[in-house]
Amino acid sequence: MFSIRKAAAMGAIAAVALGATACGARDTSGGTDSSSTAAGSDKQVSIGIAMPQKTSQNWVEAEKLFIQKCEEINANCDIQFANGGVSEQQNQIGAMITKGVDVLLIGAIDGSQLGSQLDQARAAGIKIVAYDRLLTNTKNIDYYIAYDNFHVGELQGQALLDGLGKEKGSGPYKIEVFGGSPDDSNSLKFFNGAMSVLQPKIDDGTLVVGSGQSEYSQAATQGWDPKNAQTRMDSLLASTYPGTEAPDGVLSPNDTLARAILTSIGDKRERPVVTGQDSEDESVTLVAKGEQYSTIFKDTRYLVEQSVKLAEQLAKGEEPNLGDVKLDDKQYESMEGNPVKSYLLSPVIVTKDNAAEVYKDDELRAKLVADATK
Ligand code: BGC
Repeated sequence: MFSIRKAAAMGAIAAVALGATACGARDTSGGTDSSSTAAGSDKQVSIGIAMPQKTSQNWVEAEKLFIQKCEEINANCDIQFANGGVSEQQNQIGAMITKGVDVLLIGAIDGSQLGSQLDQARAAGIKIVAYDRLLTNTKNIDYYIAYDNFHVGELQGQALLDGLGKEKGSGPYKIEVFGGSPDDSNSLKFFNGAMSVLQPKIDDGTLVVGSGQSEYSQAATQGWDPKNAQTRMDSLLASTYPGTEAPDGVLSPNDTLARAILTSIGDKRERPVVTGQDSEDESVTLVAKGEQYSTIFKDTRYLVEQSVKLAEQLAKGEEPNLGDVKLDDKQYESMEGNPVKSYLLSPVIVTKDNAAEVYKDDELRAKLVADATK
């Protein structure tokens, strides 16, 4: 069974973020799907932005926003996505180091696999910032900036409980739990955050994990790939929910997987309460219609803005100051005994009840809600 103690022992004492077209000039240093702002001798600051695969809409949005922000501050940014996997990301970071960037902003595919690149960067005096996903197994990290991932999980767990109470009468409730990709250091934090809320309710009998698969290793979804989540949900239905039965609720760590789970459930079974994350367009519509119970809003505009500001300050040798964003140096460790200075932004839970309010300053999402509720 899951236990908080075990989570802590696994290094998760944390309580703490498809193809877009770049508008900057193409980078010629290689790597698939690369883009960069035009290099120029008048550029003051040089930032290497190494991002993972675009496994969800937030990464697609981040690319466009990075290009905009870098242009705004007249920084020379090399923005690379590693759609080919870990070794491609290692090569991209290596090239950025060779180029002599001032700062590396890294959204890792697998934060534990960049040790030698980070050693080199440190030796070259490059500042290292982990973006959205923590870098692990290293001391070579200056800052971490992300939405508070453990809190994302807590909000998801609470949403599942609230949704069950609202939509499925009185308990006990049958649920299933899904996790993200095991190579992404966020996944365990999301799962542990959610289980910190759900486990006491499993222990007191309010919730029953129908399949019995409540361990992170059983629930994880390799590569954040929706096909894997759909296949697992198919087999959970086949093994545990005969005929038109369905679980009352499903913990899903993000929207892409939530939609795959809903597809697997289909329309012959009663729809469960399903959580999500990212406020992806399709899920915003489903949430507004009440078909996906919840999502999370982690405004990528704000995360990118603050990240570029932090990178600029570090590149200029200034003491970072992100105004209202609190700096925490206790919740996250990149390895045992190495706490990381972390700027943690606040995620917001979204259900059909508050969607219009949460997205009121996000024109596109506000329109999706308005259209869905016409
Ligand atoms: C991000 C999530 C996203 C997932 C899959 C995580 O690291 O924090 O927002 O859903 O990656 O792309």
